[in-house]
Amino acid sequence: MEKFILKGDTRLAGEVEIGGAKNAVVAIIPAAILAQGRCVIHNVPNISDVSILLKVLSEMGASVNFLSKNTVEIDTTDTINPYVPYELARHLRASYYYLGALIGRCGRASVSMPGGCSLGVRPIDQHIKGFESLGASVSIDHGVINTEIADNLVGSHIYFDVVSVGATINVMLAAVRAKGLTILENVAKEPHIVDLANFLNTMGADVRGAGTDVIKIHGVDIMRGCEYTIIPDQIEAGTYMIAAAATGGDVLIKNVIPKHMESISNKLISAGATVDEYDDSIRVRRLGSILPTPIKTMSHPGFPTDMQPQFTAMLTRAEGTSMITEGIWDSRFRYVDELARMGANIQVDGKVAVVQGVEKLKAAPVKASDLRAGAALMIAALCAEGETEIEDIYHIERGYEDVVDKFRSLGADIRRIDVPDVDIPAAL
Ligand code: EPU
Repeated sequence: MEKFILKGDTRLAGEVEIGGAKNAVVAIIPAAILAQGRCVIHNVPNISDVSILLKVLSEMGASVNFLSKNTVEIDTTDTINPYVPYELARHLRASYYYLGALIGRCGRASVSMPGGCSLGVRPIDQHIKGFESLGASVSIDHGVINTEIADNLVGSHIYFDVVSVGATINVMLAAVRAKGLTILENVAKEPHIVDLANFLNTMGADVRGAGTDVIKIHGVDIMRGCEYTIIPDQIEAGTYMIAAAATGGDVLIKNVIPKHMESISNKLISAGATVDEYDDSIRVRRLGSILPTPIKTMSHPGFPTDMQPQFTAMLTRAEGTSMITEGIWDSRFRYVDELARMGANIQVDGKVAVVQGVEKLKAAPVKASDLRAGAALMIAALCAEGETEIEDIYHIERGYEDVVDKFRSLGADIRRIDVPDVDIPAAL
């Protein structure tokens, strides 16, 4: 079992470079199947979610080669086996993007029900509704989602009942190859939706309106390989911005799109930080106290749910009380118990948490329950008195590239240790 050991009372300072967006690349890798050709993708983050999706591609029959640390070549010219087994699908939610891409490419797909962070109920009814509207039949047997089409996918008018990133992406992946026009309404508008649309268009698709509430897709018969660069990761950037503010630091976060960061920058300013925006970088510093700040998470362009745990970690040391309302997931406060072990004062009632700031956090052994919860614990550990041990760090490494090196370069004292699992004898 690997753990992070982080020394507290740290003030982060310096520069950090942000990598490619996890939630874009996890859609773009499956989308490469649609090309039936060679794609070269740059700014691919070196994270475990990417490794797993590339392993799935190889097992399907694609050729995958890293040309450098962050550039991958994917060749999907040969026949593709439209099947994703449970051993791979269980690791991450995004494995279900192979459904949309495979129906688009092969007309059928069998993908095990996906895993991913445990954030409450994660239905896929909107994905199924979209596929069925395009003419695919969908069944779930023994934990496997099977889809197939009798003849062709046919363009359709689909109004999503809820705004869903996953359903928007999955249905886009299928619709680019449908006959005729597909109109998707009430879609997600996150930066990674726009990035996927740009990638699909570079491969020859005709997708318009990504980033607004309505996406129009004229299906095409042929898509080709291309060269593409993934956008910077909004959530990785936001995590370092919050870490800088939480530790009273001064950090220049490089390779970001400041427009993507606006909801986070605004809340950091309300919380007492100074945020300076440049063309492709943002400087965050804080001299005074952390001010109590209300947060309500919403789909883009609202405050992202994937930043909620990190911001809450910062507010545990605010001068006053902050109310955090989770607007997307049913169960995204599991990390609160771990912060409480470090001395945080947080009351949770359903989807609302009330954070009463405390003067000090104190180091304790804690466990990451999911990716962003793990990032929140790292931020709390940097601010705490003493040395914090964080377990289950594989969650963090699913989505943060070179996290140890990046925090170290900002002055954090962090190390990874490998500790043998302890066998506890069964009770008599
Ligand atoms: N929903 C439905 N039916 C569906 C799909 C979703 O009711 O068919 C509901 C969900 O239960 C939830 C809401 O719609 O209440 C939004 O879910 P969405 O589908 O947008 O989430 P997702 O696609 O499963 C992605 C990110 C998450 C991020 C959410 C919200 C990826 C791989 N995952 O999940 O990222 O929290 O959007 O922005 O893109 C993370 O990176 O840490 C992470 C969890």
